[in-house]
Amino acid sequence: MRIAIVYQSVTGNTKLVAEAIRSALDPGSVVYCGAPAQVPEADLYFVGSWTDKGSCCKEIGAFLSGLEGKPVAWFGTAGFGGAPEYYDALSVRATSLLPASSRVLGRFYCQGKMPMSVRDRYVALLTEHPDDKKLAVSVENFDRALSHPDQDDLASAREWAREMVRSLS
Ligand SMILES: Cc1cc2nc3c(=O)[nH]c(=O)nc-3n(C[C@H](O)[C@H](O)[C@H](O)COP(=O)(O)O)c2cc1C
Repeated sequence: MRIAIVYQSVTGNTKLVAEAIRSALDPGSVVYCGAPAQVPEADLYFVGSWTDKGSCCKEIGAFLSGLEGKPVAWFGTAGFGGAPEYYDALSVRATSLLPASSRVLGRFYCQGKMPMSVRDRYVALLTEHPDDKKLAVSVENFDRALSHPDQDDLASAREWAREMVRSLS
């Protein structure tokens, strides 16, 4: 089976997950692991993105739109986390960009740390609006994200990747 892992990562979180997926697969099967440019034909595509304003990034969106008639295992990282419903919504939004001829085998998400400038902005706003509960929750979430993807996330990604391959064979 020919497998391509196609992803975009700005600060390295999604790359960590992509590398974990790669490490779980038979090295002889992985024909590509990298950004969505000149991706060879494959039987199974792992496609992943960081979350950009509630969806996948635009490069991955464009790649998904052109992926006709392929099985896709979808993965991503997001600054917010904890609720599977949130990851489901992100996953549905991104994979709805696929042509109808492609099929989604499953999805994997985990939290990914965000740049410190995001926290600084929340803290500055919190100083102006000390009673804003949403801001306080955002700071807590930011701090929770700092350790992710962690070893458990990467172990889960490896397990999920094997499951995706099994589901096709
Ligand atoms: C411009 C920008 C927009 C973002 N939008 C969201 C968002 O809507 N929802 C979310 O959960 N995380 C959001 N994030 C957080 C990133 O998706 C998260 O930190 C991700 O793990 C980064 O992945 P990377 O290290 O592979 O680039 C955003 C980050 C940036 C820089």
